[in-house]
Amino acid sequence: MKPRPIIIDTDPGQDDALAILAALASPDLEVLGVTAVAGNVPLDLTAPNALKICELAGRTDVAVFAGCDRPLQRDLITAEHVHGKTGIDGADLPEPAASLQPQHGVDWITNTLAAAQEREITICPVGPMTNLASVLQASPELAMHIREIVCMGGAFFAGGNTTPTAEFNVFVDPEAAQVVLHSGAPVTMFPLDVTHKALMSRHWIQQVRALGTRTSIAAVGMLEFYERFDVDKYGTYGGPLHDPNVIAYLLRPDLYAGRHCNVEVDTRSGLTLGMTVVDFWGVSGRPANCQYITEVDSDGFYALLLELLSKLP
Ligand code: RIB
Ligand code: CA
Repeated sequence: MKPRPIIIDTDPGQDDALAILAALASPDLEVLGVTAVAGNVPLDLTAPNALKICELAGRTDVAVFAGCDRPLQRDLITAEHVHGKTGIDGADLPEPAASLQPQHGVDWITNTLAAAQEREITICPVGPMTNLASVLQASPELAMHIREIVCMGGAFFAGGNTTPTAEFNVFVDPEAAQVVLHSGAPVTMFPLDVTHKALMSRHWIQQVRALGTRTSIAAVGMLEFYERFDVDKYGTYGGPLHDPNVIAYLLRPDLYAGRHCNVEVDTRSGLTLGMTVVDFWGVSGRPANCQYITEVDSDGFYALLLELLSKLP
């Protein structure tokens, strides 16, 4: 069967790195390109980080683009306290041999969608959704060329990780998330409600380390750095590996469950800014606009991730 064409929109980020590696390892996905966005760290780090991660996977052929360096309307908020000053602390990756593409990431997504058939391309935002929202605001008709937007973001039952009510990707650019949710393209959202149900284990990290490849060693370095934050915060060993859930869903949707319901983003400045208001029980009368994922087969997710990592150099 023809591999599924996808665009990964990302703010690497150690968990973004695992998502990119998983996608590049799968013969069932065709990564048309990777677009970087400001988020975990500024764009002048997320963009070269994306290059470094593709190179780690032996994929210097993958086109990497720099996108937006700040949210649609707000000042950028970053997360060096989680991801380190480089954004991918824990792995000492070499400077990339390949260069960023000269085209702006937003322009490349726009042109790629314009050239595509209806419902052909899957877009995977795993950072603030500024790039995709910029495309959709300028060319709303291109939503028809998107097969599915599969994004990591949001939180409702689990509470927030950046404020008590907001998850980082949506909090950084709440207006962008609202644009995406109202674009008319099918949206599947992976919030903290599901990612917090699949925590890394020491055993799994050891299994990754035992692969003994350059990719697995770098991945373990990144993951051991990254999870210290969640262990300190939640007091449990093993942090959630948010972004790779998006890729795992594309390959094994049977690992997940959720509900098609209405999701709105609070864009008012105040206590609940960036909150994804999820009408899980259908009480608002607002039209459903999102497949909101809440359940995961955690063992199945980590087994798939290990299998994919084992395919990389
Ligand atoms: O809240 C988790 C999300 O924020 C993940 O995508 C992580 O990489 C950060 O971007
Ligand atoms: Ca991310």
